[in-house]
Amino acid sequence: MTDAAEPMIRAVDLRKSFVSKQGTVEAVKGISVEVRRGESFGFLGPNGAGKSSTMRMVAAVSPITSGELRILGMDPAKDGPGIRARIGVCPQEDTLDTELNVADNLYVYGRYFGLPRADVRTRVEELLEFVQLTEKAKAKVEDLSGGMKRRLTIARSLINRPDMLLLDEPTTGLDPQARHVVWDRLFRLKQQGVTIVLTTHYMDEAEQLCDRLVVMDKGLIVAEGSPLELIRAWSTREVAELRFGVGEHEALAAKVADLAERVEVLPDRLLLYTSDGEETLAKVHERGLAPAVSLVRRSTLEDVFLRLTGRTLVD
Ligand SMILES: Nc1ncnc2c1ncn2[C@@H]1O[C@H](COP(=O)(O)OP(=O)(O)OP(=O)(O)O)[C@@H](O)[C@H]1O
Ligand SMILES: [Mg+2]
Repeated sequence: MTDAAEPMIRAVDLRKSFVSKQGTVEAVKGISVEVRRGESFGFLGPNGAGKSSTMRMVAAVSPITSGELRILGMDPAKDGPGIRARIGVCPQEDTLDTELNVADNLYVYGRYFGLPRADVRTRVEELLEFVQLTEKAKAKVEDLSGGMKRRLTIARSLINRPDMLLLDEPTTGLDPQARHVVWDRLFRLKQQGVTIVLTTHYMDEAEQLCDRLVVMDKGLIVAEGSPLELIRAWSTREVAELRFGVGEHEALAAKVADLAERVEVLPDRLLLYTSDGEETLAKVHERGLAPAVSLVRRSTLEDVFLRLTGRTLVD
């Protein structure tokens, strides 16, 4: 069993390889993380970074290749059922049962956990209320919107009152409004003391939801901290974005290089990293340069990722 000091997740040099006839893919190449009770923790990274492979090991559904992994103080190789009883899992793809209506998806899952019928009924009602699907209780799963399906999957993952909730890309594919509804529910769970671990390739999602996160790329952790710490460590306060004509950015970068701490050349714009974006922009204009479009903004985790990997998160 676990005590309060025991981290919810402790991974040391954790690795995952997939071996097939085509060869070996090293999806996770040695990562070390600790997730504390009550915290919301994120794995931020682009496609193929190894986020889902990590989550599946943490969920005790995919054996580790090497390293150490303890979940709630337990060893997933030995205590899989014990771990699975105390966590909730929202996989990347919806795995709802389309043969069953909305309420029955929750009910059957609850019975699966061996919860008594009457308890499950009460719990299903509570959860439908929590994810705002009470009116859809009798609806077919396939008639739900993407956002509703995701909320139903979240409700399903909560049926056993888990200590820790694992969410693999909770809002990928949802429209902005649907994403905000999901964020709001996750925020409430966090306030109730549930430890939340999520993966995302959206930097705004990571900034909104995570107390602490690791940035993953190609199976490795490239940085760790709170969103603010990461931005302070790897970027400047502000960014001036300048858009010139197609093909002009590379040449113009040299002409403004001394105006910023750092300049990034993207195919469609220049990014000038600086403490005062407006001042930098004014100096650009003083040089007689006239970008077609310009704007000044705060640094984000996207800038951190670009700095660390030389690539953008979502391409
Ligand atoms: N079952 C598997 N068999 C073989 N290779 C796999 C398997 N699962 C994942 N991989 C490979 O491992 C690497 C990491 O994949 P993973 O799904 O963990 O990344 P991810 O960060 O979740 O990406 P995404 O954002 O696309 O979900 C990829 O190269 C992927 O092709
Ligand atoms: Mg994934």
